[in-house]
Amino acid sequence: METVLSGIRSTGHLHLGNYYGALKNFVKIQDSYKCFFFVADIHSLTTHPHPSDFHEGVKIILSEYLAAGLDPEKSAIYVQSDVPEICELYTLLNMISYVGELERTVSFKDKVRQQKNNVNAGLLTYPVLMASDILAHRATKVPVGKDQDQHLEIARTIARRFNTLYGVEVFPEPVNMDFGSGAIKVPGLDGNGKMGKSEGNGIFLCDDEKTISKKVMKAVTDAGPTTPNSEMPESVANLFKILSIVSDKSTVDYFKEKYNDCSIRYGDLKKQLAQDICKQTLPIKARIDDIYNDAEYLHKVVKQGADKARESAAATLALARKAIGFKAF
Ligand code: ADP
Ligand code: TRP
Repeated sequence: METVLSGIRSTGHLHLGNYYGALKNFVKIQDSYKCFFFVADIHSLTTHPHPSDFHEGVKIILSEYLAAGLDPEKSAIYVQSDVPEICELYTLLNMISYVGELERTVSFKDKVRQQKNNVNAGLLTYPVLMASDILAHRATKVPVGKDQDQHLEIARTIARRFNTLYGVEVFPEPVNMDFGSGAIKVPGLDGNGKMGKSEGNGIFLCDDEKTISKKVMKAVTDAGPTTPNSEMPESVANLFKILSIVSDKSTVDYFKEKYNDCSIRYGDLKKQLAQDICKQTLPIKARIDDIYNDAEYLHKVVKQGADKARESAAATLALARKAIGFKAF
């Protein structure tokens, strides 16, 4: 069985884009792959979160992952910092990662621009830690967004370099996992681009009914169509796109018809959209609240996840150490 792994930084909340674009697919593959899902809390330290927020961030993301359907009985669900083997591998892999190639990554160059006063070494070696996350379990498939492709390329380079340097086949080269027709891009409510945590254009899985309704009612539209069958502006097309994700076909067809004969009232469309988003997300929100407040359950999940992840990572680390030449006295 092939191994799949994915991680998410412990900042913010999961939004509709994360859910329909990524999580729903993760939930589906849990039966057919050996799956590892983790909260990348060490990665989030590059921005120095306040100690009183740090654990909270992990707890939120973990509760949301679980509420969205990740199953700790099927997959290893863990917190990165609970698996020290990853950090040991990170140290070893840093020795074969070159400053030049790390400096050339787009994400590093972005950070240098964004946080001029905090260009720490962790930012530079962010892709090495990510490679360690993946290679620690010898995962071959890594479902992540396009923005992570360069990091995956570095993981492949490091894997190949290790194998070549030591004449072994310890690490397979991981590739992005393509969900093909299952890949959905969820647009934002602000008329352009995609829904994202930091864009302020998102609906979060933890939003309550009132918040969702308010956000949808405020979504950008235009003055309305004046000629039949005219093309939709992007803002309106985006609302239809979200509607097509959360509603049934007959609802989408109904509003499309209204758009095409110019009788559409955006207020009605938005009301329906808010209602249908709520239908999908409020049951998840209820589960998030339950899980978040169940300390015993969360403790059990991360313990079980860490046990599975540590066993797997320790086995890989033993192979890597042997290849490098570490020997017991
Ligand atoms: P964010 O944009 O909120 O920072 P991340 O970049 O952490 O989200 O992405 C986490 C996962 O969610 C990735 O696999 C990414 O491809 C997916 N994702 C994020 N936003 C969207 C979106 N609007 N539509 C579809 N998938 C998305
Ligand atoms: N770098 C990823 C992000 O910014 C998070 C991440 C860390 C990750 N380690 C990973 C994703 C390993 C996939 C595999 O979203």
